[in-house]
Amino acid sequence: MEFHNHKEKVLIIDFGSQVTKLIARRIRELGVYSEILTPKNFNKLKRFYNVKGVILSGGPSSVTSTKFPRISKEIFKKNIPVLGICYGLQLIAKIFGGKIKPSKKRREFGRAILFKKRSSLLTRKYLITKKSVWMSHEDAVVKLPKSFKVVASTKDSKLTIIENTKKKIYGVQFHPEVTHTDNGNIIFKNFLFPICKIKKKWNIKSQTKRLIEEIKETVKQDKVICALSGGVDSSVVALLINKAIKKNLICIMVDTGLMRKNEFKYTYKIFKKKYKLNVKLINASRHFFNKLKNISNPEKKRKIIGNLFIEIFEKESRKYKNIKFLAQGTLYPDIIESKSSTGSKTSKIKSHHNVGGLPRKMNLRLIEPLKEFFKDEVRIIGNSLGLVKDINLKHPFPGPGLGIRIVGNVTPEKIKILQEADFIFINELIKSGLYKKIWQAYAALLPIKTVGVMGDSRTYENICLLRAVISEDGMTADYFNFPKKFVDNISNKIINNVKGVNRVVYDITSKPPSTIELE
Ligand code: XMP
Repeated sequence: MEFHNHKEKVLIIDFGSQVTKLIARRIRELGVYSEILTPKNFNKLKRFYNVKGVILSGGPSSVTSTKFPRISKEIFKKNIPVLGICYGLQLIAKIFGGKIKPSKKRREFGRAILFKKRSSLLTRKYLITKKSVWMSHEDAVVKLPKSFKVVASTKDSKLTIIENTKKKIYGVQFHPEVTHTDNGNIIFKNFLFPICKIKKKWNIKSQTKRLIEEIKETVKQDKVICALSGGVDSSVVALLINKAIKKNLICIMVDTGLMRKNEFKYTYKIFKKKYKLNVKLINASRHFFNKLKNISNPEKKRKIIGNLFIEIFEKESRKYKNIKFLAQGTLYPDIIESKSSTGSKTSKIKSHHNVGGLPRKMNLRLIEPLKEFFKDEVRIIGNSLGLVKDINLKHPFPGPGLGIRIVGNVTPEKIKILQEADFIFINELIKSGLYKKIWQAYAALLPIKTVGVMGDSRTYENICLLRAVISEDGMTADYFNFPKKFVDNISNKIINNVKGVNRVVYDITSKPPSTIELE
């Protein structure tokens, strides 16, 4: 997939690493446009117009096996700088005649200290002190390919950074893209500017104008429909398309009854009154509660919510004539994941709720103006469109909503309790300035009651679980370390104000092994 109209760019070839997306983000954070391609699609590329650098990602394969993912050697003849990371380095070494050894026994995993062997453009201003870098590999390059030099080593691997300055090929065994590597961005900076000589600085704000023009060109006089939830993605999509085609955008808000407290009313007011969008609100909560009655299996709940949503949205949209397009807030990570190439077939952990079945069913064409962007980039676009801060900075929220934050069967009464607890939690986070530091936070209800004592009487009520995680992309996450004062206060506030809860617990698991949501 190629997005047009980008000047200089860096291509990242994805060999299946869990953190390839982070490479793209790091590059973009440095003001350079980057795209991720599968090795197969990369090998099909005929023209390298505007490609100023190529990065080969890490991956689970081994170049010592008989079959392993590779790229054609052509790229090394084009005078385009190449940086290999982990598997990428091993592949470079293999292609140029080095020796790689599978070292099952001596894996290097975790932090390692770098020792400088020679100066290099890649490590300019980097190897001044001994840096701690993040390693995660079994195979290691044991013999340097001819015409390459060693820039740095660690205690366990001699060839940790290598280079061939004449051909502008570089390789690092560690992962500069992860935060565990000290100042990894210096490596990327050195690669992009002195090595790839990229001058043009890309910035997301300037993309807004282009996106609006592209929407105008695509849609012309036709009508577009979109499901507006009040989350960041659908809100930015709605504002963008509205800027392009005004009233020809029809926004449908389906209130499932599974949203956070006041969220739908507030979103409706903002979009209808403030932005003057063509918004239709449908209250469907009764249908959702009816269908969810006595259902406690998480997958069943997800399917019921997803299907009913589609049914209602479709029925409503049939009332409008001449709709040709369906707008969706698909983001770049969604596309990369669905195109994951290198055979690392990750098992389906949960069925995600989206309106993916709709376009085919309704014979609509899709427009996905955000499909080139990461979440934080979408927020920058939102900001440039004047999207109100409390929507623009909102944490991610799953499609099935509170339906999967009530473990077990869902009832309107439980939703009410949960909405109150969640409202208090989120407000306290905002008040204390912690909200922005956290990737995602929410309250959930567990399907067990426990005994408590309030005043002089015994209580037997629900457990409210609080979850707050830090993450870069939702793929992995760590629980947030709250100051004790905050935890004490929040527990008191929830118990004193939410009838039906007599115990508050905090989830201290990371992802993996847990997921961010409970179901
Ligand atoms: P998990 O629970 O899989 O969640 O660790 C990762 C991220 O995805 C969000 N999530 C969803 N988002 N529809 C969505 O649009 C869904 O069905 C869904 N399920 C989980 C979750 O909130 C977290 O940000």
